[in-house]
Amino acid sequence: GLASGGLIEVNPGKVLIPPKFKSYAQRIIDMEVRPDDVWLVSYPRTGSTWTQEMVWLIGNDLDFQGAKMLQQLRAPVLELTALLGNDTSGVIKLIGETVEIVESMPSPRFIKTHLPLELLPKQLDVVKPKIVYVCRNPKDMCVSYYHYCRLMHDLHGSFNDFCELFINDMVPMGPIWNHIMGFWNRRNDPNVLFLRYEELKKDLKSVVLRCAKFLNKELNEEEVQAVLHHLSFESMKNNPAVNLEPVLEYRKTALLNQMTEDKVTCMQAPSFIRKGVTGDWANHMNPEIAARFDEWIKTNLEGTGLNFQV
Ligand code: A3P
Repeated sequence: GLASGGLIEVNPGKVLIPPKFKSYAQRIIDMEVRPDDVWLVSYPRTGSTWTQEMVWLIGNDLDFQGAKMLQQLRAPVLELTALLGNDTSGVIKLIGETVEIVESMPSPRFIKTHLPLELLPKQLDVVKPKIVYVCRNPKDMCVSYYHYCRLMHDLHGSFNDFCELFINDMVPMGPIWNHIMGFWNRRNDPNVLFLRYEELKKDLKSVVLRCAKFLNKELNEEEVQAVLHHLSFESMKNNPAVNLEPVLEYRKTALLNQMTEDKVTCMQAPSFIRKGVTGDWANHMNPEIAARFDEWIKTNLEGTGLNFQV
């Protein structure tokens, strides 16, 4: 699955991306941005669904009823070329091209993307809508991404092989450091809120308060507690609007005819909202790979001021 991705040239380097995306790339770069858009940008497996749920809820004045709709409909992932949604009878089906749907969404739009800055609309820098960026310790991202690729992309290589791809920028949306630095360098811009997964884990309440301030919303203590409850790992894991289970079920049915034993095994991988902890890398990486990751992380963070400790 991963090997069938396409490479798109950006400056500097190349981004590994699903080949279907190529026909949308220029359209996204030229897309009209609105001042009241709220963008959530992240590398995959950084806690972006979690962060998006926080941003959407606070941005929509705690509309818990509205939050029952699939998150991918409330805040579509721009580069998913086709969007799944439920029709009025609750049945999941393809509802159309994502870019087209995003273009026709009423304001204020909540838009999510894993694209690096170079492939995002040029107007982001001119119109300056609110942008939330979230990142995570790459060792934990790698573990999380491996399980995700087994679940969603029928990956059946070993974890060690996946680590090689990851550290060599050969997983979808790679290269990773360029992705993070694109927004770390803008972290002090007033329209950018830069977050780390580790901060959400350590003190979600203070992140919720920062997010509310960023979105110009006031929350009383009772509202904060309601948000924290909605965002807890247990609630999110059991919430079909965010845990992707309805979408996976659709995929399973759609793929049923072409199911090979490999695919069936892959789809038994851990769920989309999997473990939700920091430091799970220690349960997966052998000491030699962990040391290489440490060196890679150290080299790339040197002089930037960014770290993943909280
Ligand atoms: P793990 O695989 O380490 O468990 P994304 O949404 O960007 O794909 O990120 C997915 C990661 O966020 C998964 O990490 C998932 O478990 C974690 N996550 C989702 N909701 C969470 C929550 N409420 N608390 C902690 N982690 C959460």
